[in-house]
Amino acid sequence: MLYITRREHFSASHTLHNKNLSKEENEVLFGKCNSFHGHNYYMEVTLAGEINPKSGYVMDLKKLNEILLDKVINIVDHKFLNDVGIFKSIIPTTENMAMVFWKELKDVLKADNHRLYSIKLYETEKNFVIYKGDE
Ligand code: NI
Repeated sequence: MLYITRREHFSASHTLHNKNLSKEENEVLFGKCNSFHGHNYYMEVTLAGEINPKSGYVMDLKKLNEILLDKVINIVDHKFLNDVGIFKSIIPTTENMAMVFWKELKDVLKADNHRLYSIKLYETEKNFVIYKGDE
């Protein structure tokens, strides 16, 4: 089994806010993250697979790049995440974002005979989330 990874970048803004809570409760729960602010995100998408003897690749990374742009990056780059359709009624924390991106990518990769292994999403240099599906 081999693991290949493509790293992508996007910038986006959000507020962390639970609409079922009061203004004060949100301020206590999320602190300064309750205010409008932005991040430079880095996403690392890893596939697990075997080498295709015809190409020598697990997957052509140019093709993976196109899928990532189409399904994730172009949807979220320079956007206010709370208003983006895929985050409708979801608080756009790094955790939730990694899970939503997994959902957006898994089936399209599977249809191309590739297995999504993990999504690693960096919100800052120090904070990141790894999601590997429901294991
Ligand atoms: Ni934030």
